[in-house]
Amino acid sequence: MSSDMSLNKLTVRQPDDWHVHLRDHHVLHGVVGFTAKVFRRAIVMPNLDPPITSLQAAIDYRERILSSLPDGVRFTPLMTAYLTDDLATNVLEEGYKKGIFTAAKLYPANSTTNSSEGVSDLKAIDTLLETMELLDMPLLVHGEVTEPQVDIFDREEIFIDNHLYPMLLRHPGLRVVLEHITTEQSVQFVESSPFKLAATITPHHLHINRNSMFNGGIRSDFYCLPVAKRERHRLALRKAATSGKDCFFIGTDSAPHLRRDKESSCGCAGIFNAPYALESYAEVFDQEGSLEHFEAFVSKNGPSFYKMPLNESSISLVRRSHVVPSTIDLSNASGALQQLVPFHAGEKLSWQVEHSS
Ligand code: NCD
Ligand code: ZN
Repeated sequence: MSSDMSLNKLTVRQPDDWHVHLRDHHVLHGVVGFTAKVFRRAIVMPNLDPPITSLQAAIDYRERILSSLPDGVRFTPLMTAYLTDDLATNVLEEGYKKGIFTAAKLYPANSTTNSSEGVSDLKAIDTLLETMELLDMPLLVHGEVTEPQVDIFDREEIFIDNHLYPMLLRHPGLRVVLEHITTEQSVQFVESSPFKLAATITPHHLHINRNSMFNGGIRSDFYCLPVAKRERHRLALRKAATSGKDCFFIGTDSAPHLRRDKESSCGCAGIFNAPYALESYAEVFDQEGSLEHFEAFVSKNGPSFYKMPLNESSISLVRRSHVVPSTIDLSNASGALQQLVPFHAGEKLSWQVEHSS
């Protein structure tokens, strides 16, 4: 990492995004450029409808992503398999060995967007997990229990105790990413773990706490899963992300939903942060006085965990105040205008990515 004397410019190896939802069709077309212009690689989530559960579906989706890229960008989508109770082990085995799947994603059934076909009981997929352990294929975990009687703010903590820890004891060799962590318990569990366990942290969980969803009225823009927690959890996440520890790395969880689908009587979970994700993280590292650990978090810890080479290309951010647009327009297949609301809409950010024109 290099920075000039006054810390007005930050140059780092090009980062990767280890957790992103790119969606499909016209939404994919409208959002993929925001990720691809900044990140060299990204782990693409498989929760489409229907989900990505076969090699052919992954190959076809990858093709649709590549053909939606803006001209001239170098971007590698890393595909993931969506685990179900009855996914065949040879899909993972063949997919991983052929380099079609980089990892497999565990959604507890009905935990989040398009997860109804997810796993109903972790023990039911022990054979799949054994195969992944043997292959050294990473398992990416949405860590929340789904029992309706469990308070939504406790679902991550209970998942760790009742499901994740027992699973790690059964599969001590498995490489696992606990995705988008939101609590101090998760931070503590990951950093003190004797297992091959890491965690991604989103920009929004570093900026907002649960009050943000109710600030003067109901704020659907700040609703995502796992839901933002109390302020002390946000502070623990900021400390973890900016610590330089190699078990924590970037994963934006950018999850676009059309504005009308978020602002409905039963609004969708997900925050669309791709347009200013790197700036959003830079703001946090700057505020915490930890810019020296920025490159480790955004560009180094992820590739080391995934056993992939560091990117050779670099990217610069400059200290320049700018206001995030309040909406981003998309046009659907019939040309009608639709809107997405980006994270930080209408707010001032103090770092800006320098794009070569
Ligand atoms: C994600 C989505 O919309 O696909 N939503 C979210 O709130 N993060 C799913 C997920 O990652 O939970
Ligand atoms: Zn996600």
